[in-house]
Amino acid sequence: MSEKTVPARMRAKLLRSAQRAMKNAHAPYSKFRVGAAILLSNGKIFSGCNVENASYGLTNCAERAAIFSAVAQLGPRIEIRAVSVAAKPGAPCAPCGACRQVIYEFGPDATVFFHSAHGPKQAHITELLPEGFRLQ
Ligand code: THU
Repeated sequence: MSEKTVPARMRAKLLRSAQRAMKNAHAPYSKFRVGAAILLSNGKIFSGCNVENASYGLTNCAERAAIFSAVAQLGPRIEIRAVSVAAKPGAPCAPCGACRQVIYEFGPDATVFFHSAHGPKQAHITELLPEGFRLQ
């Protein structure tokens, strides 16, 4: 996979979009608000936030909310070029395993920006999810 670079200005725009979405999170149980934004290869940006539920297992992560919103608007033929994840300042927030698999479905060459335990990090989706699942 060839990791195409995301220009710094675009990365900053994506992060701002994730931070904006974070404010809409419904996280009364964990109190951990998350926002995510995805950049598609057509240049469009979609965002999402985590939405929790009193039945905890029904919680949906910010990353999947952003991706499902893009599919709902544009259909399934989208290609995710980059993902940015935002949480409270300094808090590590790498995409969970389920979201990595969903990112991989629509972005097998995606770059993911997030805050790791060691600070800001950028990683290729296949670095985060080796041997992602595909039906074929
Ligand atoms: N969460 C996300 O939305 N994205 C992540 O990358 C990690 C976790 C949410 C799920 C839950 O609402 C809260 O963070 C605490 O786990």
